[in-house]
Amino acid sequence: MKLAVGVDVVDLQDPRARDRSGDTRFMGRVFSPSERERILSAADPALELWVLWGAKEAAFKVVSKLLGAPPTFQHNAFRVLDPPGVVASRLAYEGLAVQLGLDVHPQRVMVWAWNGPSPEILVAQCRIPDALHSLELSAQVDEWRTDRFNPREMEAVRGLPSALVRLMARRDAARMLRTPETRLAITCPPGFTGLRPPYLERDGKLMEEADISLSHDGTQLAWAIRVS
Ligand SMILES: CC(C)(COP(=O)(O)OP(=O)(O)OC[C@H]1O[C@@H](n2cnc3c(N)ncnc32)[C@H](O)[C@@H]1OP(=O)(O)O)[C@@H](O)C(=O)NCCC(=O)NCCS
Repeated sequence: MKLAVGVDVVDLQDPRARDRSGDTRFMGRVFSPSERERILSAADPALELWVLWGAKEAAFKVVSKLLGAPPTFQHNAFRVLDPPGVVASRLAYEGLAVQLGLDVHPQRVMVWAWNGPSPEILVAQCRIPDALHSLELSAQVDEWRTDRFNPREMEAVRGLPSALVRLMARRDAARMLRTPETRLAITCPPGFTGLRPPYLERDGKLMEEADISLSHDGTQLAWAIRVS
């Protein structure tokens, strides 16, 4: 069985993460009747809305990997079956089922998804200022391009958040796989920039035994690594 992981972070402080639960067109396009009911009866409808949104985005990333290519993303086709939370929660897309994990913080919502048995997954997040500090990059924003990525990695990078999340994820992947970071790369297959799933390579070969997922929104970064 192919094993995949997906992560999505929503920056709750970004103006785009406003409460859209009163926007009936948006709600009808994105959420099923039972999901809408859940949002509208929640103590904090805006928060519940972004939790369910994140679940669908994280699951879309898993499904894209399982199918071998991204399907057209119709949020409504991804059905959250029970609440994301600590206890097993599930989402279905056509014949596929994924499990969900959730982490809520006043500044962000992070949801991750995976298929198959309970896996070894590392899920992590930080804010962009913290990443700059942690990677000691604040004074070298121009240099990271050539210093920190090989050309195939760089080709998939689209802006600072996209670069930073890759550096954080690759560093953690090296730790998790007990492999020197210089042997690892995060690359994307050909396609439209920003719509391509990331893959982990070791010594220039795609790793079958590990999967990686990236997300960035506003000042928030999140990444997930799964090893089978
Ligand atoms: C993939 C998608 C869900 C990403 O969500 P987002 O909120 O924009 O962005 P996030 O920060 O959470 O995730 C972006 C990262 O996801 C990864 N990613 C992109 N497409 C992916 C896919 N299909 N599967 C897995 N991961 C994917 C990339 O690593 C990307 O990072 P990058 O921009 O630095 O390369 C979004 O781009 C999308 O909706 N795509 C589908 C569009 C679609 O089907 N349109 C229909 C008309 S063609």
